[in-house]
Amino acid sequence: MTPIAPASEQPDTFAFSADNLAAAKAFMAKYPDEYQASAVLPLLDLAQRQNGWLPQAALEYVADFLGMPSIRVFEVATFYTMLNLAPVGRHHVQVCTNISCWLRGADTIVEACRNTLGIGFGETTQDGQFTLSEMECLGACVNAPMMQINDDYYEDLDAGSTQVILGTLKDGGTPKSGSQIGRKTCEPLGGLTSLTDDAKTAGKTPGKLKKPRARKGKGA
Ligand code: FES
Repeated sequence: MTPIAPASEQPDTFAFSADNLAAAKAFMAKYPDEYQASAVLPLLDLAQRQNGWLPQAALEYVADFLGMPSIRVFEVATFYTMLNLAPVGRHHVQVCTNISCWLRGADTIVEACRNTLGIGFGETTQDGQFTLSEMECLGACVNAPMMQINDDYYEDLDAGSTQVILGTLKDGGTPKSGSQIGRKTCEPLGGLTSLTDDAKTAGKTPGKLKKPRARKGKGA
């Protein structure tokens, strides 16, 4: 479960901005009247983007908005790690240490983050710029090891590229997201091994499929 901010950090109230109020209503309009609760995740995401994290007041506000018991919203908010129940830095660095990333060097990535940022897991830099979190599988195993920073994935990492990414953010820049070794999406590391004749067949109409032959034997 994500850490929950102490009472001293919890604001008393929360309300959607005018833009987010309209966006929330648009999300709710996608669901039938009796299933409005299905909009809970997009509404929590809206609230988090507005406030930077999800205080208790925001959970209760969303519960009221959707006519749900607040405990059910709390259950959702504590289940999904992308929902932060305590303040995080401007750049939320989430390093996957699950099996594929671990086998491909996640420990090195964690070490590079610790050395570059001077913080460990669950900590935020003094200037409030970076929070470092440990994540379970983030679904990009094929390009392991990887980390997520805010909405972007950084894949095929090593210590050097991790330092470059964090250094660029420290300097106020925008690092290149995706594969750091130039791999196109999740193609094999050594290049394509199948469907390599695309260029030759491009533009040609596929031939007529042959009818499968009837099988001999019982009932044929
Ligand atoms: S194990 Fe790291 S993305 Fe799946």
